[in-house]
Amino acid sequence: MTVNTLILGLQWGDEGKGKIVDALAETSEAVCRFQGGHNAGHTLKVDGEQKVLHLVPSGILHPSVHCVLGNGLVISLPALEKEIVELEQSGINFDGRFYVSGDCSLILPTHIAIDQVRDKSEGIGTTGRGIGPAYEDKVARRAIRFGDLQDWQALQPRLEKLIAYHNKVLVHLYDADPVPLETVIDELRAHQHLFQKFHCATQTLLRGWVKENKKIIFEGAQGSMLDIDHGTYPYVTSSSTTAGGLSTGLGVGPKHIGSILGITKAYTTRVGEGPFATELFDENAAQLAKIGHEVGATTGRPRRCGWLDLKALETIVFINSVTSLCLTKLDVLDGFKEIKVCTDYDDDGSPIYTTLPGWEQDISGIKEFDALPKSAQDYILFIEDFLESSIDIVSVGPSRDQTIYRN
Ligand code: GDP
Ligand code: IMO
Ligand code: MG
Repeated sequence: MTVNTLILGLQWGDEGKGKIVDALAETSEAVCRFQGGHNAGHTLKVDGEQKVLHLVPSGILHPSVHCVLGNGLVISLPALEKEIVELEQSGINFDGRFYVSGDCSLILPTHIAIDQVRDKSEGIGTTGRGIGPAYEDKVARRAIRFGDLQDWQALQPRLEKLIAYHNKVLVHLYDADPVPLETVIDELRAHQHLFQKFHCATQTLLRGWVKENKKIIFEGAQGSMLDIDHGTYPYVTSSSTTAGGLSTGLGVGPKHIGSILGITKAYTTRVGEGPFATELFDENAAQLAKIGHEVGATTGRPRRCGWLDLKALETIVFINSVTSLCLTKLDVLDGFKEIKVCTDYDDDGSPIYTTLPGWEQDISGIKEFDALPKSAQDYILFIEDFLESSIDIVSVGPSRDQTIYRN
């Protein structure tokens, strides 16, 4: 039985993946990302100090943990550099423990320009980080990849062709300013040292670790309902955020996944546009947003808030083969007299709710399941029962130590 754990968000992102990965990384040897890019924003709080990670895996705060960015990511070199420099300035060492696949596709300045101008008319509410256009180029087999930085001669003509194409899109389709080729070349050249320092054949590295039975965490970004295939299309991101994305995004086959931990908030949030059946617009929404500090970690946009949608989670648990659950932000429900959960939809797609009693008591300092108020325990057991999957971890605050381990 393999010891590796895949950790995934089951909703529209921001479930608290970063906090949980950081907490579990303590007993692991590596944390590896397999999809997405710097559209992610993962907040870690340790000893009162907060760090927001976008590309760097959430194991980086543990000095002995190795961190990998697999081939399935799209990488903006300036974003990566900025994050590394800031973390290094706070005393975190990257040497000999941070590896980037040569097969990652690069996000270029033109991707960002296209994403931002296009979203004005398409209205997905993207993070504007160039994610969609970069994945489009990958699938169209014309992407510039991290490994291409080793051969400028071969890269130059491909880059010229690609930027000319991007600029046609910008100028002729969107009436926007073109991005000078020099700007793109300068950006790539200015970050070539990242290639020299961190480039790695990550698939081979991982194969070795798996053989040695090293304990690996595979860290999902975004959430299952943002999955390009299984999410609320077209209001999704452009990568495979569900369990299947791990094998393609790191080159690790499914039999090397020991357990799959699905993370869900005790309620639901969403940033950006798109359907959200259990969304609230009343004082309950305001309370969830206020108490839960529901503001996007990447773009600073307010997150839309609503009740937990168990009917949607039921499908998501199946798609991901979730083997156990983690319920986060339970403390945000502390002040509610009653809590609703969607357990079905009626014929016109409106949610049908079951109402459960609240606990109206501060649970943020509680360390054990048995010490939780009875209605909080019942809320957890109700979810567990509905989803037929055990909730092994309950999070009651943003800090690493505000975590209840049950099983
Ligand atoms: P991620 O993208 O899934 O890593 O989640 P984010 O970091 O974007 O958003 C989760 C937010 O909730 C962050 O601000 C966390 O510090 C915070 N958080 C995580 N777990 C809890 C919890 O159990 N309770 C509370 N109150 N906040 C939490
Ligand atoms: P983490 O890892 C929440 C959303 C955007 C937008 C849609 C498409 O922090 O959970 P994109 O820029 O990816 O093309 O935007 O996806 N989105 C996220 N929402 N958390 C995230 O990441 C997200 N990453 C993308 O808001 O609706
Ligand atoms: Mg986030």
